[in-house]
Amino acid sequence: MRIIDAVWEKRNLGVETHEIELDGSEDLQNVRDVLAYDKSRYCVVKSPIGRLDLYEELSTLGFHYAESLFTLRADTLKIADSGSESDTCFRLALDADVDELLQAVESGLFTTDRIALDPVFGPRIAARRYCNWIRDEIARNADLVILLFEGMPVGFTLLREADLGTCKVALCGMYPPYQSRGLSGLIVRAGLERTRAMGQRVLLTPISSNNPASLKAHIKAGCVPDTIQYVFVRHDTWSR
Ligand SMILES: CC(C)(COP(=O)(O)OP(=O)(O)OC[C@H]1O[C@@H](n2cnc3c(N)ncnc32)[C@H](O)[C@@H]1OP(=O)(O)O)[C@@H](O)C(=O)NCCC(=O)NCCS
Repeated sequence: MRIIDAVWEKRNLGVETHEIELDGSEDLQNVRDVLAYDKSRYCVVKSPIGRLDLYEELSTLGFHYAESLFTLRADTLKIADSGSESDTCFRLALDADVDELLQAVESGLFTTDRIALDPVFGPRIAARRYCNWIRDEIARNADLVILLFEGMPVGFTLLREADLGTCKVALCGMYPPYQSRGLSGLIVRAGLERTRAMGQRVLLTPISSNNPASLKAHIKAGCVPDTIQYVFVRHDTWSR
């Protein structure tokens, strides 16, 4: 069990937040002892699949199911070499690209995450959280790759090195005027090319079950499910 005091969420969400990641080895009493006494205002539990005993306990402790988190995997060895043409398709972001992305997020690019969908938080707080997250990732040397189609920025993928041999996507998307035009495969191709340029082999992308459009687009582009976690949340009511 990993217990994380998510201090950055205090700035994003305005409440003390704990994130607890279970690996499946915990017994019920152990989980009960930790969660029954957790006093955070917003508590997030990421749990492994197949632990129905645990889910019942989480429900008794006041947690609600929020989403399933699929991590999709793509392999750089499986991308076709697109030669020099690819040079014109993607580039690392300039300052103006960062501004354009932040504007798109503020205008409501992301609507399917557990914060936007949560009646206690909602889309405005979710957008603020994403903008902070993007700035933090860039400050931590993540690569913001801009997707170009006919010379125009149409989308982005924000990724960085994770464990040995892998890169992980923090966020990605197509800008609204370019959605639903069959271009989303560019996201995966750009991510894989950047992963390869960084000397890594595997690209991991976490996607919520509340975002079937993204799941479908990534699977169509050759990604396969790697791991699944169930996410449960609890808002405390006793301190309000
Ligand atoms: C998710 C997203 C990247 C998909 O890109 P897109 O340009 O709309 O998708 P495409 O036009 O390339 O379509 C790819 C496939 O997904 C399907 N798809 C697109 N939107 C869909 C939707 N709302 N629901 C279900 N399927 C959808 C398409 O039908 C297509 O499959 P098909 O060829 O079998 O019809 C884009 O909608 C987006 O950026 N959304 C907002 C930000 C976001 O959610 N980012 C992902 C975070 S992980």
